[in-house]
Amino acid sequence: MRTQVGIIGSGPSGLLLSQLLHQQGIESVVLEKRTQDYVLGRIRAGVLEQGMVDMLRAAGVSDRMDREGLVHEGIEICFGDRRQRVDLKKHTGKVVTVYGQTEVTKDLMDARAAAGGALIYEAENVQIAGLESDAPEITFEKDDQTQKLTCDFIAGCDGYHGVSRRYIPENLLKIHERVYPFGWLGILSETPPVSDELIYVNHWRGFALCSMRSPTRSRYYLQCAFDEDLEEWTDDRFWDELRIRLPNEAAERIEMGPSIEKSMAPLRSFIAEPMRHKRLFLAGDAAHIVPPTGAKGLNLAASDIYYLSRALVAFYAEDGRSDLMDSYSADCLRRIWKAERFSWWMTTMLHKFPDQNSFDRGMQMAELDYLFDSDAAQASLAENYVGLPF
Ligand code: APR
Ligand code: PHB
Repeated sequence: MRTQVGIIGSGPSGLLLSQLLHQQGIESVVLEKRTQDYVLGRIRAGVLEQGMVDMLRAAGVSDRMDREGLVHEGIEICFGDRRQRVDLKKHTGKVVTVYGQTEVTKDLMDARAAAGGALIYEAENVQIAGLESDAPEITFEKDDQTQKLTCDFIAGCDGYHGVSRRYIPENLLKIHERVYPFGWLGILSETPPVSDELIYVNHWRGFALCSMRSPTRSRYYLQCAFDEDLEEWTDDRFWDELRIRLPNEAAERIEMGPSIEKSMAPLRSFIAEPMRHKRLFLAGDAAHIVPPTGAKGLNLAASDIYYLSRALVAFYAEDGRSDLMDSYSADCLRRIWKAERFSWWMTTMLHKFPDQNSFDRGMQMAELDYLFDSDAAQASLAENYVGLPF
């Protein structure tokens, strides 16, 4: 098999890239290790920055998002008995759209199918070879047969646990990492959200977040131990703990119901650089992870794909133009580091740290006190939350 761009991974990064390339007449093949049902069964974040919304519109995959996405003009932050709404629209003129990553993925899969593009599920044992040449190869196993895909370029969009990153030689790859000493326990329930806007809570027992997927489906999170046993978290225990951490008014109003999904996620900040080696380009979670507190993971995947599709289109449309490929890693990383900073800052401000001493706690209180009292601090939060430009 031969294609122009071989894409490893059919998460949002890989699928969005395949769609943007297709629009420009560039052929790609997407290889996915899992089944389609498995990919669509993963519940991930759901807050889209304006820049990502604009990209999905330009990619021609926004019909359902424009119908069903919930436009949010603000978020709420709580600590102690204080509640502060941060007005995103007032401070930035921009909004965010609440629309689940699962839905984005589904819309992109539908577009891929409509375009008749190759998307091979259950492609096992994916390996890369020939990166030194002009025609690198991906080999994989499908139905017990080994197949070979020869490409001009390879996009490693295979997430944090993927294989692509390993093909950047160890002596060239620098890893920057912080692992937080806690996780998030999340549930999805068929109940109306407790509030029209997201509520982020710093409580002395730990962080809590009220989010949503639709007017009838809620997503709630609780900070928990990083090795928490899911079995021990019955729905009743989850709702009881959530209500303790929420402001009274919200705790009294919240509608509870059985969970339809329950999962645990560790919190990590991670950056691999560079994001390119020869003809291999990493994008999305394959190159970086943010803790979910700033809702930046999915949006960073989109901005990587903006830079990558731009570089590939320039190469094919402008006779082998390569400057945008050469600057790809640096272009992405400038934005990634800032999103990492914001996610780290939100995480640090809002969580209970097990080894926190009285000074650390004082700093956290001062940070929140300043945020609540300062329009400038709220403007800064808003600017980052709606997404920095790319
Ligand atoms: N071969 C083929 N596919 C693979 C391999 C492999 N060896 N390893 C992983 N994959 C697939 C995974 O099954 C998954 O479908 O690559 C895909 C990667 O998708 P994501 O993890 O969703 O990563 P990405 O597309 O970069 O999207 C980033 O996901 O985790 C969130 O916060 C993150 O929202 C952000 C988004
Ligand atoms: C979510 O809805 O899953 C969500 C929202 C905001 C976050 C993280 C996750 O910061």
